[in-house]
Amino acid sequence: MSPIPVIGTATAMKTKRRERITIPVIAIDGPSASGKGTVAQRVARQLGFHYLDSGALYRIVALAAERGGIEWSDGDSLAALATTLQIVFEGDEIFLHGENVSTVVRSEAMGKGASEVAVHQALRSQLLNVQQVFRREPGLVADGRDMGSVVFKDAETKVFLTANSHVRAERRYKQLIGKGNHAILAHVLADIEARDARDKSRASAPLIQCDDALFLDTSQLTIDEAVEKVLQHYRHTN
Ligand code: CDP
Repeated sequence: MSPIPVIGTATAMKTKRRERITIPVIAIDGPSASGKGTVAQRVARQLGFHYLDSGALYRIVALAAERGGIEWSDGDSLAALATTLQIVFEGDEIFLHGENVSTVVRSEAMGKGASEVAVHQALRSQLLNVQQVFRREPGLVADGRDMGSVVFKDAETKVFLTANSHVRAERRYKQLIGKGNHAILAHVLADIEARDARDKSRASAPLIQCDDALFLDTSQLTIDEAVEKVLQHYRHTN
């Protein structure tokens, strides 16, 4: 799949409305560490679809703000900053102004930063068209918190993917340890629960399960089983 450059919002505005209506989208939303990123990427690979990691956009804004001395609480400045960012996704790699920022963007600190910057409606509006540009032939798998409720409201296939917080904390803990980080399970669980609370309670695009989304609890499922269930749901809805 060729990289999709994300350059401010001007490019995004050029997306034709007609294309947005016809190109299939699988919208996968859910809480932190539910496995939706892994599942979404595998589904995209199997179908040959594009993949949008919308959380990465909020993480990049948090990083760029930190570097530029902008507070995560300053919504208007964050929205202005977002228009200036030169972002490229290439496979698993993320480039900001040509620099490979994949590792730092995926850090726990930027996960927290993302959930803080993501509360601002001004920033969310700025990123809306940027995300919609990813809807290209032959289709898109988009993962986040508001893919089915806001960004791709008209998606035919919506999934709310979750797992209980203890299972999610253990998964995240193993991921961190696996990457050589120091982590304490109780702290990871507390962070996840704090992030869940912030994502669900914010006024702008809170994490909710859409009425037309398939509810998929992966607490007892393997990745392969979760992928298969999403694919079955896609076949059923298309
Ligand atoms: O990978 P993980 O689920 O931990 O996080 P992520 O998907 O990278 O998202 C990081 C944060 O960005 C979330 O906690 C949300 O607050 C925010 N986010 C959002 O508000 N809307 C999205 N579509 C995606 C992420």
